[in-house]
Amino acid sequence: MNKRPIGIFDSGVGGLTVFREIRKQFPKEDIVYFGDTARVPYGPKSYTTVSAYSIQNARFLLQRGAKIIVIACNTSSSVALKQLQDSLPVPVIGVIEPGAKTAVSTTRNGKIGIIGTEGTIRSKAYSREISNLKKDCRVFSQACPLLVPLAEEGWEDHPVTTLTIKEYLKPLLEEEIDTLILGCTHYPILKEAIQKVVGDNIVLVDSAEAVSKQLYEILPDKENEGIGEDHFFVSDNEDKFRQIASRILNIKISKLIKVNLGESWYLS
Ligand code: DGL
Repeated sequence: MNKRPIGIFDSGVGGLTVFREIRKQFPKEDIVYFGDTARVPYGPKSYTTVSAYSIQNARFLLQRGAKIIVIACNTSSSVALKQLQDSLPVPVIGVIEPGAKTAVSTTRNGKIGIIGTEGTIRSKAYSREISNLKKDCRVFSQACPLLVPLAEEGWEDHPVTTLTIKEYLKPLLEEEIDTLILGCTHYPILKEAIQKVVGDNIVLVDSAEAVSKQLYEILPDKENEGIGEDHFFVSDNEDKFRQIASRILNIKISKLIKVNLGESWYLS
């Protein structure tokens, strides 16, 4: 069991921010990552579609021997976590609960902001989790769909990115939030730009860091018996994945395989 890999899936390349944190926390674990680059983005899609994709992605990781599945994608975590937990024979964790817990323990004035995709915000998954944890917190949410392409473009320092962040965050800043959940895989890439806009008095909660800490509680370091091997799979566009991945991870990805989940067979 211990030798089996940790499985991580995302709608595409953004989940590598979660992979990066988990790799840091578990240097000896083998990790299988699947990015659904053929069907990204999940953010604007219906819950039925996102759930169906998420189930296929998780089953693929099971076929690869995953001993635990981490849903890196906030949109998938928002709509498919319970279904996956109820139907899969291995533990499944998502990013919502760890992010919400960190935010609740961080806030001093009880005003928490959440930014994410349209799907994540519409689902109210973070708000529900926060009010389960602490009734008297007030939650202010904002969908920020333009931040995903800006992060993928590598425009971390671009004025367009700063302006876009300012525009999206204006209503949350007016509510005087003191904590902001980065509820999308791509936002940790823009962390510095977001911090500059909100100022030092607002604490940013990185769901990627939070889920990796939760994983550590379930899978302590001493369990590690692998050799720290990475296996990356995507459903399309290997070159683009490689290019963005090298920026996010600061390493060159050599072992990358394209798969067709619909047919469950390898294309290359
Ligand atoms: N991975 C998605 C998330 O964290 C962002 C990209 C998408 O819309 O698929 O919600």
